[in-house]
Amino acid sequence: MKDMREYLSWLEKRGELIRVEEELSPELEIPAFLRRVMYSKAGAVLFERVKGYPEWRIAGNLFTGVETLKDALGVERLEEIGERPLKLFEGLPLGFSDKLSSLGRLKEMSAYLPKVVRKAEFTKNVIEDNPLDFIPAFKTWPRDAGRYLTYPLVCFSDPKEVNSISVYRVMLLDGERAVLHWQIHKRGSQAWRDYIEKNGGKMPVAIAIGSDIGTLLTAVSPVPYPLDKLLFAGFVRGKGLELYRLPNGVLVPANAEAVIEGYVDVKELHEEGPFGDHFGFYDKPAERNELYPVFHAERVYYRDDPIYYGSVVGKPPLEDAVIGKAIERIFLPMMKMILPEVVDVNFPEYGVFQGIAIVSIKKRYPGHGKKVLNALWGTGQAALTKVIVVVSEDINPHDINQVIWAIASFVDPQRDVLVIPNAHTDALDPAVPNPPLGSKLGIDATRKLPEEMNGRVVEEVEEDPQVLKRLEGLFKKYLGE
Ligand SMILES: Cc1cc2nc3c(=O)[nH]c(=O)nc-3n(C[C@H](O)[C@H](O)[C@H](O)COP(=O)(O)O)c2cc1C
Repeated sequence: MKDMREYLSWLEKRGELIRVEEELSPELEIPAFLRRVMYSKAGAVLFERVKGYPEWRIAGNLFTGVETLKDALGVERLEEIGERPLKLFEGLPLGFSDKLSSLGRLKEMSAYLPKVVRKAEFTKNVIEDNPLDFIPAFKTWPRDAGRYLTYPLVCFSDPKEVNSISVYRVMLLDGERAVLHWQIHKRGSQAWRDYIEKNGGKMPVAIAIGSDIGTLLTAVSPVPYPLDKLLFAGFVRGKGLELYRLPNGVLVPANAEAVIEGYVDVKELHEEGPFGDHFGFYDKPAERNELYPVFHAERVYYRDDPIYYGSVVGKPPLEDAVIGKAIERIFLPMMKMILPEVVDVNFPEYGVFQGIAIVSIKKRYPGHGKKVLNALWGTGQAALTKVIVVVSEDINPHDINQVIWAIASFVDPQRDVLVIPNAHTDALDPAVPNPPLGSKLGIDATRKLPEEMNGRVVEEVEEDPQVLKRLEGLFKKYLGE
């Protein structure tokens, strides 16, 4: 889909878009409305009249559900997206004919490459005087510190010219300054540190607002560094992303509704928060003595009749639950590449994604469950997961009752439970006393092998197949099976 507008029209045709004609404020009113709509799974929303911002309309709840997302991205399984980049490496050439087939594959891959274009609709209008005052940013909860961009596409490249497009909340300070909340383990924070080491001075940054749904999804995806996120956008969209290079050198999606161009002065830090977060509590970075960099907005560019997009978080399951499920599916193929024993994974939506993960594996050797626990705690953003449960492949990780049965039947806590004290954890975790340090819990609920049972043999019940065969007719008659 070309841009956010085309996606909105597509949703409307499917009956998944609510148009709200009453004038509402982006401060508390629109966020509260969006939360209620999301809890009742009623679809996406387009607010036609925005109090205080007559130039704008506002879109919300664009991630209405996983099935809608699959249709929008034109895939039957979201895993197909994660499989696209991996196909490049599958069975690379050994002989001449293989070489030819991989050339064909490279050609196919070129469809996913980004392309820099000379024109972008958003360059039509520019404001240089207090550009941030023009943006209809949300205040999402009563005790939030102020107005926030809650789904900004923060675009930057690091000194090695690896490009990123990432969603980090942005707290507005005044018409020209804002605070970028990139957490320490994210690409933005790393690029900023690399700038400090290499150049000092200014780091060019741009914030795009509103794009096609595939690009919006890319920006929240934990794409492993140094894979270029602007390239990864092509894999998600099924087609290379068109990019526009701003005067400050930053590449942004050409289909954006608006773009704020500016820079981060690498030495300038500011307090951030409180902000009502996705656990359903106020995140207060100042209590952890965390400071974040200041973004200086130099100008905002925007399309005619611009449409703003912001997300609202709070107690699950809101829009980020759909996003989290999509990411779980898209990154499963990559997880399997690193850990081939992984069969499936479930980050349950009420577990707020970094809270709990359940992983099923093809178990081959004693201690295999613990190996997987440790590997996940060492892998990208999965490393932040607080509780991980590993089960054998016959247990469906998406069926919580099966998981509970596996824990009850295969876990001896002394043998199978790992607690890692003082590990790096999600700073938003409302349970830990000293964030970002917190403990981790790993439960190896895999079926145990004889070596793990000290010789004890337990026999699992099984029906007699001949008896089942004799009863087939009765099953049909009484149970309709
Ligand atoms: C609505 C929403 C808001 C988010 N806000 C933040 C944030 O303020 N800071 C942050 O570091 N990550 C935030 N994230 C998570 C990042 O977008 C996610 O970790 C992404 O992978 C980061 O991109 P990166 O891997 O390019 O650094 C948010 C995600 C969503 C869905």
